[in-house]
Amino acid sequence: DWTMASFKEQAIESIRREVGDGKVICGLSGGVDSSVAAVLIHEAIGDQLTCVYVDNGLMRAGESEQVVSLFRDQYNIPLIHRDASDLFLDALEGQDDPEVKRKTIGRIFIDVFDEEASKIGGAEFLAQGTLYPDVIESVSFAGGPSVTIKSHHNVGGLPERMNLKLLEPFRELFKDEVRALGRELGMAAELIDRHPFPGPGLAIRVPGAVSRDRLDILRKADTIYLEEIRNAGLYNEIWQAFAVLLPVRTVGVMGDGRTYEYVCALRAVTSTDGMTADYYPFSHDFLGRVSTRIINEVQGINRVVYDTTSKPPGTIEWE
Ligand code: XMP
Repeated sequence: DWTMASFKEQAIESIRREVGDGKVICGLSGGVDSSVAAVLIHEAIGDQLTCVYVDNGLMRAGESEQVVSLFRDQYNIPLIHRDASDLFLDALEGQDDPEVKRKTIGRIFIDVFDEEASKIGGAEFLAQGTLYPDVIESVSFAGGPSVTIKSHHNVGGLPERMNLKLLEPFRELFKDEVRALGRELGMAAELIDRHPFPGPGLAIRVPGAVSRDRLDILRKADTIYLEEIRNAGLYNEIWQAFAVLLPVRTVGVMGDGRTYEYVCALRAVTSTDGMTADYYPFSHDFLGRVSTRIINEVQGINRVVYDTTSKPPGTIEWE
């Protein structure tokens, strides 16, 4: 549309002016914001941009491969892919406190990112897909730990440590505007319309102790849930949908045996900016179908529940 076309031109101009002939590093997360930021900045300054993708072992099934092939093969954007899964998963093993999980992930991310970025040499700017709501939430919660609801690690931390200037082309945009900009840049709908995914990844979707086994169980359930949502044509009506693997086991019966396995919770919400949200009113048919599939196909889960909490008072993620 007209507004986005002119926003794009202005953004490209201002990136060129700000960066000059400097080098820019952009951390890719696989999400919409950093992807659109990378493509926009690449359009503005070409190979002065290098992307860094740190695989933390906390992504959903097949996601890391998709990110790497998209940016390297399709967009031809210089990309460093660092598989740091073991580093993250070893440090998280057994951790059950949500804030400790977030802080551990944030700290390791900064270390690894810093290490990879310094190999590029001479970078002057760090690009981030920070949105207006990120700016607002971090500012309004800046009063101290007592009012910090969740410590996001995508705002702050890195630039000071690495002595880099921030390049944040979306500081004044909302998610739907970033999506419109991505379409304006000709990016594929599957990428642009992807649901948001949190920086700490699946670690905050296994309440209780993180373990490789529990992450694997979660991935299988999540894949089935999202597949059913897509098949039902509901993906784009929903802001975010995901499975959560609870640290609770319940008794069940399968065939003529007793089972004692984990509970899986399903979450789906509508929202325009993630700051408030309503739970999505799936049909009972749909919920029944997903439950049956998850319980039949995923070893380790024998019960499925649906989360009907809105935000507030709940948050979108469980941790
Ligand atoms: P909550 O759970 O606070 O989430 O209602 C609001 C939105 O933010 C996402 N989220 C995060 N995103 N780093 C991120 O980049 C984080 O640490 C983080 N925590 C939550 C969440 O998925 C939802 O879209």
